[in-house]
Formats: sequence, structure tokens, C-alpha cells
Amino acid sequence: MTILNDERLAATGHDFLHRPLAEVDPEIAQAIETETRRQNDTVELIASENHVSKAVLTAMGSVFTNKYAEGYPGKRYYGGCGPTDVVETIAIQRAKELFGAEHANVQPHSGSQANMSVYFAMLKPGDTIMGMDLSHGGHLTHGHPLSYSGRDFKVVAYGVRKEDELIDYDEMQRIAEEAQPRMIICGASAYSRVIDFKRIREIADGVGALMMADIAHIAGLVVTGHHPSPVPYADFVTTTTHKTLRGPRAGLVLCKEKYAKDLDRSVFPGVQGGPLVHIVAAKAVALKEALSAEFKEYQGQVARNAKTLAQAVANTGFRIVSGGTDNHLFMTDVFSKGITGKDGQNMLEAANITVNKNTIPFDQNKPMVASGIRIGTPAVTTRGMREADMQTLATLIARVLDAKGDAGVIAEVKHDVKELCDRFPIY
Ligand SMILES: Cc1ncc(COP(=O)(O)O)c(C=O)c1O
Repeated sequence: MTILNDERLAATGHDFLHRPLAEVDPEIAQAIETETRRQNDTVELIASENHVSKAVLTAMGSVFTNKYAEGYPGKRYYGGCGPTDVVETIAIQRAKELFGAEHANVQPHSGSQANMSVYFAMLKPGDTIMGMDLSHGGHLTHGHPLSYSGRDFKVVAYGVRKEDELIDYDEMQRIAEEAQPRMIICGASAYSRVIDFKRIREIADGVGALMMADIAHIAGLVVTGHHPSPVPYADFVTTTTHKTLRGPRAGLVLCKEKYAKDLDRSVFPGVQGGPLVHIVAAKAVALKEALSAEFKEYQGQVARNAKTLAQAVANTGFRIVSGGTDNHLFMTDVFSKGITGKDGQNMLEAANITVNKNTIPFDQNKPMVASGIRIGTPAVTTRGMREADMQTLATLIARVLDAKGDAGVIAEVKHDVKELCDRFPIY
């Protein structure tokens, strides 16, 4: 790469191209530095977050951010797309290989847009869709009234059984037979047990519905064989790329070849304009990492850590929704000890332990208060923590919550959290 020398830059007035961020915008540079420190010094237990590799960060921060590339490889509306085509073609090949899918679209800017592109490809306004109730663990885009998905379509919801907090497949079948949905959506944001994709396919077939599996949360476990794959069963599989998959903040869609044209048209020009090529490049890097033996080992550790942490938190006296976990996350009913999810989240944050409040099935509290906290292990596992560290973490969490926000206890735990984090530096 030719870098213009300083004199020529000054002469052409283009020196801004090479000025360091700290000089151009000290406020944002400072915020980035503070955030880096926060991530290093914090135990990140938000189940949907992770720490990406420097390789992924480099691709995201690359000159591909300058490129417009509406269209698809070999069929663009813009010139100069040679290197972009290389990147997107590689990303597509890797996505197909990793998931064992017939077709992949790697352009969705986010998980929500991935879902939107499937709905807009296959549904008409007013069609009935069936998704998991948000308060039972589903996602906003699976038909919640505040999301486009609940506005444009008629929605029926399924959920979990009160007794064991597991998805009630018999009830799902009954609702499907009654409502005759055009599409059944499965996958969740806050469900800790194995999802029976085969059974859902049978239910969908029984009523002639399409099946979409949104594996935004469990994608990393799925591609490494730690959770059954929906790819053989679902017409469409959507995912985010930034959770267990440990890539950039974005989405992708997989489908059977027969839907490929409709899906691609729906992503662009249906719901998006030009792809974020720098993000597609970062997806390609993350997908390569996900094809490695190390990633398989990592996902195994994520699941072992989640099991260990759930059991250890249960041992401190908190009720775990459904009694445990089969994946990377679990829901803790903190209201069982008289603490709201909101207060629990705030108390833990003060001690540098980050979680999110979350409703639990049949919650008595409103979503902004909630009775639960959701705890996930992808990020702490990325930084190298293992089972013994999960035991430590459970003790730290219980110390904060049992002291109900006592400032002295929070200060002590914050100190212990710092010591733990220092043993596992990230960036
Ligand atoms: C199951 C599920 N689908 C979709 C999404 C939406 O992803 P995004 O935030 O990238 O739009 C999420 C995000 O939390 C999710 O959990």
C-alpha cells in the first residue's frame, strides 16, 4: 500500500486521512479505551455477548467499509467489486460448509434483519405466524406486538409448561392445528434446554406450515455438535454471528436451494441496501475460526462451564429455571430470594459482574423489573475460564445478591473480580 508522504498530504489537504483517532476525536478515543478496560476488568455473563479475536476486529476495521456492493458476487450494481466478490464468496462457502446448508446469504446486517428477510420472502401481511412467547424465552422478532413481526402478521404463541418449564410440544401441536399458521418459528433468547427440531418439523408438516429455526443463541453449539442441528429439518435457519458464533455483530440466513432466489431477493433489495462488506469480511474470518478444532473444544467448554455455574449457583440457594441447562445459558430466579431481576442486575454490575435481568416463565413482575437474571458463559470461556472459575464466580454472585447490595460487600467482591479478571486478560 502506498502511503502519501506528509508533505504531499499537507499540500493536497488530505492529511485528515492519516491522523490518529486520539487526535481527531479524543472523546471517542477515550470511550474506546474505557470500554476496553471495562471489558478486561469485568466478568461478562451476558449470554448474547462474546469477545471476538483480533483477526475479526481487523477485518471489521478494514477499508471494505468504503465499498458499495449492492447485489451479489458476479452480479453487482457497482464497479470495483472484485475483492468484495472474493470476500463474500468465501463467506458463503464457509457458512454452507460449517452448517451443512444448501444455500447461505451472508448479507443480513443483524439477526432481526435476517428474520425479516425470511418473513418477507415467504409471507404476506396478515398471514399467521407462530413463535415462542417472549416471556417464555422467545425473541421480539418472533411475533411480539412491539416488533415489525407482531405488527404485520397475525401471531399465535406457544410456550413452556408451568410444571417443568420445558417447551410443551403437545400444546404447540394443538395450537398449530387450531391456528393453521403459515410459518412456525422456533429458537429462543432465553431457553436453556435442547430444542427438538425434528418434532417441530413434524408439527409443521401436520399443518402444512413452513419452519424457521432462529439459532442466534446456540449457533456455535450447533455447528460443533453440542446441540442438534435444525438444518436437516427447517426450511430456513437464521442466526446472529456475534453470540456463541463469536463473530461480528450481524446475521446470516441458511435455506434449502429451492428458496435461494426468493431469499436473496428479500435480503437485497427487499429489506436492505448495500451489504456491509467489512462486516461480511469479518463474518468470513469468524466462520473460518468456527471450522477449527479449537472452536469445537471451546464450545464444549462453554457448555461444561454453563452446567457447572448453574449447579454452583443452585447450590447457593437460588432456583434455576427448568432446573439446569443443556446449552450456554441459564435463567436464575432471583425473586425466589426476594430480589428483582432489575435490582440483581444493578447490584452485580456494581461489583463488575455483568448480567441482564430477564423475565422468567409466568413472571409476576413486568419485563423492566423481571424476576430473573440470565447468565451465559460464552464470553468468560473465550477468556479462558474453566470449571473451577465457575465455582468461584457462583460464590461471588451469591455474596453480592445475599448481601442485597451492601456497599462493603460489593467493594470486596469487586476486588476479587479484578483479581480473577487479571488472570484472564483479553485485549
Ligand atoms: C433468538 C434471537 N434472534 C434474533 C436476535 C436479534 O439479533 P440482533 O440484535 O442482531 O437484531 C436475537 C438477539 O438477541 C436473538 O436472541
